[in-house]
Amino acid sequence: MVMINVEEIRKDFPILNREINNNRLIYFDNAATSQKPKQVIDGIKYFYENINANPIRSIHTLAAESTQAYNDAREKVARFINAEPEEIIFTRNATESINLVSFALPLKQGDTVLTTYMEHHSNLLPWLRLKDRGVKVDLVNVDENDELDMSRYDELTKDVRLVTVTHVSNVTGTINDVDKIVRRAHENGSLALIDAAQSIPHMKFDVKKTGADFVAFSGHKMLGPFGIGVLYARKDAEKSLSPFLTGGEMIKDVKLSRIVYENAPALFEAGTQNIEGAYGLGLAVDYLSKIGMENIETYEKDLTQYLYNKAKGLKNVEVYSGKSRNFMGIFSFNVKGLHSHDTAYLLDKKGIAVRSGFHCAQPLIEDKLKQPGAARASLYLYNTREEVDKFIDELGSIAEKYGR
Ligand SMILES: Cc1ncc(COP(=O)(O)O)c(C=O)c1O
Repeated sequence: MVMINVEEIRKDFPILNREINNNRLIYFDNAATSQKPKQVIDGIKYFYENINANPIRSIHTLAAESTQAYNDAREKVARFINAEPEEIIFTRNATESINLVSFALPLKQGDTVLTTYMEHHSNLLPWLRLKDRGVKVDLVNVDENDELDMSRYDELTKDVRLVTVTHVSNVTGTINDVDKIVRRAHENGSLALIDAAQSIPHMKFDVKKTGADFVAFSGHKMLGPFGIGVLYARKDAEKSLSPFLTGGEMIKDVKLSRIVYENAPALFEAGTQNIEGAYGLGLAVDYLSKIGMENIETYEKDLTQYLYNKAKGLKNVEVYSGKSRNFMGIFSFNVKGLHSHDTAYLLDKKGIAVRSGFHCAQPLIEDKLKQPGAARASLYLYNTREEVDKFIDELGSIAEKYGR
């Protein structure tokens, strides 16, 4: 197995030295947001102290440097997922990226969008909203192994304008076979969007191999700052989108009688953008690339397996994730008889940060898992076996004391 040097990596993350309730922080809420290395934190400070100016618009030196920084960040992100720079549209987050497609794709009455029961609200609500316009929304079901029920997939993809699916579930950790889903969607004449918010931070993602028309992800879940996200839009597919927001820098020529729009990506980046965020995301991409996404994936899969093996001995704990043949990074659970918020509160008392509630995937948790919520531990490259040991010990004590 390829190993990464976790002890060295941890030194780059100042927050991991924090004490929470007199315990060293164990940060297991990485699916919500990742921590940031000092390379990103210091880089953003450097940007404001040395480069800050509104890019593209002005010709003075600072503006030119800011433009260069923004363009460099776009190139880095493009290289990271094997895209062309023109195919990278900067947004605020995965949510905005998906909404952009839902607003900019001319879907009309009678069109169908196919999504799944496994989605985060970000990849559900933008489509359900279109029902008001007469757009039909179908859902692929999730089976008892946390996998998409592909038996009806072919039938469901007939006459569909857009197929949209999460790559990795933020509740069950299931890794969907997106290459196959995209291939089938294209064979059936449909566009395909991948919500890669939970995959791109953790594994190598190649847009050319996957072949999707659109891919959405967030910078803050992959060591980057808040407020910067990406919509990859394949060159040909970009043409199917009409302008979303209008305003500065997304036009070539404005006469009151006639507007000539810019090409993508500028066409979809109206107004002053989050330059500092893009710069920080570029640094995050540098950091991840240096370690290697294959190494990160191997390490995290091994750590996930370690956690599941240790969890087998726990009494009074129900686990809702990890049943799929292919999964990683997520452990969703409840202590029987305790609400997930109470479990998370008790773990926090020991310095362990986990998420609780619906994880913005209420239909999956309520309708499929039949739970009023779940607690979730989610891992990243700086987590260790020692942290997993402590987590399992503390969870075991809570389950023994309060579980039934
Ligand atoms: C699968 C998935 N998609 C989309 C999102 C939305 O990400 P953001 O809130 O950064 O837009 C999340 C966030 O947790 C997620 O897990």
